[in-house]
Amino acid sequence: MASSRHMARKWKVALLPGDGVGPELIENTTPILEAVNERFGISMDLSVGVAGFNAIEKYGTNLPEKTISLLKGSDCVLKGPMTTPEGGGSEISAAVKIRKMFSLYAGVRPSKNISGIKAVKPGVDLIIVRENTEGMYSGLDFRVSEDTAMALRVITRRASERIGKFALQLAKKRRRHLTIVHKGNILKESDSLFKESILRAAGGHSGVSIDEAHVDAMAQWLIKKPESYDVIVTENLFGDILSDEAAMIVGGVGVGPSANIGAGYAMFEPVHGSAPKYTGKGIADPVATILSEAMMYEWMGIEAAGSAIRKGVEAAISKGVKTRDLGGRSSTSGMCKYIAKRISK
Ligand code: IPM
Ligand code: MG
Repeated sequence: MASSRHMARKWKVALLPGDGVGPELIENTTPILEAVNERFGISMDLSVGVAGFNAIEKYGTNLPEKTISLLKGSDCVLKGPMTTPEGGGSEISAAVKIRKMFSLYAGVRPSKNISGIKAVKPGVDLIIVRENTEGMYSGLDFRVSEDTAMALRVITRRASERIGKFALQLAKKRRRHLTIVHKGNILKESDSLFKESILRAAGGHSGVSIDEAHVDAMAQWLIKKPESYDVIVTENLFGDILSDEAAMIVGGVGVGPSANIGAGYAMFEPVHGSAPKYTGKGIADPVATILSEAMMYEWMGIEAAGSAIRKGVEAAISKGVKTRDLGGRSSTSGMCKYIAKRISK
């Protein structure tokens, strides 16, 4: 059961359904939150806000002021996937804006096999810790002439030490193995600063074994021996790329959850995109969103709620109640209803 500390307070959770399959994922997974709240006596206010590509037409921005106020008045946000415009002069992604605005500096992206889901390799249990606020996501990307464009990859000691500390703390709670991923042979200044800051943050390593890999080598090690990694810490763009790869190794981006964690606020979201071609068909895989909800309860300190959700997902999959991408025949809503019912039992 949840401790009285958590039962005594009221959690304010903002929901941003987003674009494409996002609204159907948030709508169908909300009953799972309700089932968990009821079973564990958690009091939670859910408020829906508008953000993403769909907001641009109506509000002229993907993150309207009203939504920013909603987020500021909440404890955390559960976000569906959003469509990000491409091309020069287009708006910065809403997810990236929220990560920066609330200093959600740690992108936490676990990849773990789920029994019954076809994977590239068994025995995988790793977490990618992605620096979420700078690197190639600095926003400093511009045309210097008709034929030349430049993007600046910003690495600071402060942000690198901060993510290093976070990753080390996480590794201490797990198998005590931390891998620093960089490209120091090419990005000589920025990635030596990144690596040096992480090692400094790790101090005497406190019983955690630390190794390192270049990002290109890591891309192949993740296929060859993913089971040998525990916590992987890396900068923003490398983490973005490797987390899609790691999700695919344990079954696909449809099952990859994530948390974006800062000092006093957090955002939970599936790793996958808005998948416009599946919109409205009722076939979107809800597992990534549901597991992101489990991560939300764990962040709140209500571990039992997180494990009830994980058990519900495992039960559905082992009973064959799963969406088509996982080899089943269930609809999004069918799978979510089954899981909510399991949790209520
Ligand atoms: C992710 C996504 C986002 C990112 C996009 C949608 C802005 O790919 O969360 O991994 O690049 O961070
Ligand atoms: Mg990505």
